Amino acid sequence: MAKKILITGGAGFIGSHVVRLFVAKYPDYQIFNLDKLTYAGNLANLTDIEDAPNYTFVKGDITDAAFLDQLFQEQNFDGVIHLAAESHVDRSITDPMAFVMTNVVGTVNLLNAAKNSWQSDFSGKRFYHVSTDEVYGSLHNPEDFFVETTPYDPQSPYSASKAASDHFVRAYGNTYKLPVVLSNCSNNYGPNHFPEKLIPLMIHNIQTNKPLPVYGKGENVRDWLYVIDHARAIDTIYHNGKNGDTYNIGGFNEWKNIDLVNLLCSIMDRKLGRPEGTSAQLITYVTDRAGHDLRYAIDASKLMNELGWKPSLQFEEGLEKTVDWFLANQDWLENVTSGAYQKYYDSMYENR
Ligand code: NAD
Ligand code: DAU
Repeated sequence: MAKKILITGGAGFIGSHVVRLFVAKYPDYQIFNLDKLTYAGNLANLTDIEDAPNYTFVKGDITDAAFLDQLFQEQNFDGVIHLAAESHVDRSITDPMAFVMTNVVGTVNLLNAAKNSWQSDFSGKRFYHVSTDEVYGSLHNPEDFFVETTPYDPQSPYSASKAASDHFVRAYGNTYKLPVVLSNCSNNYGPNHFPEKLIPLMIHNIQTNKPLPVYGKGENVRDWLYVIDHARAIDTIYHNGKNGDTYNIGGFNEWKNIDLVNLLCSIMDRKLGRPEGTSAQLITYVTDRAGHDLRYAIDASKLMNELGWKPSLQFEEGLEKTVDWFLANQDWLENVTSGAYQKYYDSMYENR
């Protein structure tokens, strides 16, 4: 019988790339995409595979335990890849409770639904929790990297909620022997990235000649990975990772925010036929993010050495592809920035 895999958050940025990869690569699997379609969920991310015979979309909320229990009883999934989350740090500062509900309560609901449905017969089953490097806190020594044993030290409501969910996943592995595996990844970028996040926001603002808001002095450092390389890592870990283990995922690719924004400005000047230096004039230093983590840097050696994964793209190449995707998909960007995508899908699903 075909393997049934539930992917949560599959209409979001990273989830949509994971769904696409699994639907295309594993025609014998049945892939279920469970998503609430919050502001960040957009089925337009998946139009190319929406009619695939091995793909099913389910609209639903992981904070609804009864709904999840019923879905798991009906479908008897073999595996779960859990990405659904509130994902934006700035939103977690203004509305932390939404992050507690989806990221913590929603994750525990999913763990319970899997545990109840599998009833201690865990052979061939797997619960994969997708997490973030932000749980490790902020690096201050330039020599340091996050490794899998780095103590948790979350600094924002977002990272605290992800850290709590990671702890629950490990606790279910330890207490109930649920076959869990986790990964903690660095900053992703690429097609379908929601334009509240740094890279797509800057691309959109450069194109529309709006100010480019750089927080603080732009000195903060992030480690960037092309989203399809993250999806490939998730595929590798889902199939070959060891139960109970954690894998760090990252590109060994650190950039100061201001250097990254300048690089984007220069790529955009070239693509838009503007004189070099035009877009950089839009850079505007704004009030820093509260509690802004200084530096993240992932050591992904374990994943590379034990499971043979490595990033497929250099950053400059990935950034060019990303800019090209946004310039070629103006309708997608327009629908997202105007909110039109939500009205369309709300009316499509409101009677279900
Ligand atoms: P995203 O915000 O683009 O997508 C999240 C998806 O989850 C959306 O489709 C949304 O509709 C759905 N969702 C939210 N609340 C839900 C709920 N209550 N029930 C069901 N669905 C719900 O997020 P993303 O950037 O694609 O991140 C996906 C996962 O990867 C998250 O768990 C995030 O913590 C993790 N992660 C993200 C990054 C990154 O750079 N974006 C890096 C490392 C880890
Ligand atoms: O590290 C992984 C994390 O990366 C994920 O877990 C999160 O879900 C994801 O959103 C991302 O978090 P960041 O806070 O690092 O990403 P963001 O794009 O919001 O910001 C990147 C950096 O750019 C950060 O230092 C803040 C800064 N920034 C961001 C925005 C939106 C600005 O200077 N100006 C901006 O307008």
